[in-house]
Amino acid sequence: MRQRLCHLAELTGDRLLTEHPTTGDPVLVLRDSAGIHVLDGLCPHQYAPLVGGDLSDCILTCPMHEWRFDVRTGEGVDMPVRLERWPAVVEDGWIWLTEA
Ligand code: FES
Repeated sequence: MRQRLCHLAELTGDRLLTEHPTTGDPVLVLRDSAGIHVLDGLCPHQYAPLVGGDLSDCILTCPMHEWRFDVRTGEGVDMPVRLERWPAVVEDGWIWLTEA
């Protein structure tokens, strides 16, 4: 099932914290040179909002305790944890989840 998530114009800089269209859970939309990434909005450690994290070379660093995640896969860099990640496409400026 395909679901519309948001418009590119809603991103502030390279990111947006929004809600999953089905569950209402927080999801983080990031845009970098690799494309659009849609991930869990909260860190699996102590649930800090990841929207404030640093993004560099496809690595997102949690602002609270600096756990790092590869936004291309959702995998933790330092810990055996994983952010859920949803495949997405951009069409006419809209970001669509292709598996919701
Ligand atoms: S809450 Fe993200 S590393 Fe602790």
